[in-house]
Amino acid sequence: MTATIRPYRPEDHDDVYDVCLRTAAVGKDATGIYSSDDLMPDVYAGPYIALEPELAFVVDTGERVSGYIIAAANTREFVERYRRDWVPVFASRHPRQAERESEQWLVDAGYRPERMLISEVDEYPAHLHIDLLPGLQGQSLGRQLVRTLLGALRERGVPRLHLGMSPDNVSARAFYDRVGFHELPSSTPRGPLLGIATDAPV
Ligand SMILES: CC(C)(COP(=O)(O)OP(=O)(O)OC[C@H]1O[C@@H](n2cnc3c(N)ncnc32)[C@H](O)[C@@H]1OP(=O)(O)O)[C@@H](O)C(=O)NCCC(=O)NCCS
Repeated sequence: MTATIRPYRPEDHDDVYDVCLRTAAVGKDATGIYSSDDLMPDVYAGPYIALEPELAFVVDTGERVSGYIIAAANTREFVERYRRDWVPVFASRHPRQAERESEQWLVDAGYRPERMLISEVDEYPAHLHIDLLPGLQGQSLGRQLVRTLLGALRERGVPRLHLGMSPDNVSARAFYDRVGFHELPSSTPRGPLLGIATDAPV
């Protein structure tokens, strides 16, 4: 099986949602954890492929899409568009009051894009999410996806990129450290924030 990286296409939508769900529990499968399997992807994948599809790249196995990197080039502008164009979509799918108290934080995240406005947002204007199904992990595809995204951001004149992650995702943290991300000043042990220049050698 040869996996190739290519730009996102609209028909990849359901595979992207599937990959997001199956890596959403600190890198592991979150199927059945929330009252709707679409809740997590509607927060962390849907807005990117809907609002900024040109910055989405997928790993195509020839049979399906099993990984992706998705991003916003300018987080401030993305937050405005998310509020205007995505919150109504999200609201049509997920009531403001979560079905389960344990998932209220996630529903809140879906309704509040301003959570993305970190202190360093102007210095590190872009941000990303990256996920690969287990069968594709550990084959340099994560590194290649980051490289692909950095190239696309450079072409758009974006100087730096950031990401937020779960402090429990030790494996992802090892990956980010290895490919050259560094901690941002407002990073905390409970909310790690990492950044990288788009011309960094990845
Ligand atoms: C995190 C993830 C994107 C990394 O992608 P990947 O394709 O598995 O990583 P790569 O094979 O490109 O690894 C790149 C480098 O990081 C290192 N690395 C990756 N995972 C590592 C780990 N768990 N521990 C130590 N080093 C690691 C690799 O050894 C490699 O180093 P090398 O090139 O010097 O040999 C992928 O594993 C994944 O999607 N995991 C599940 C979902 C997830 O956690 N997403 C991130 C949410 S914040």
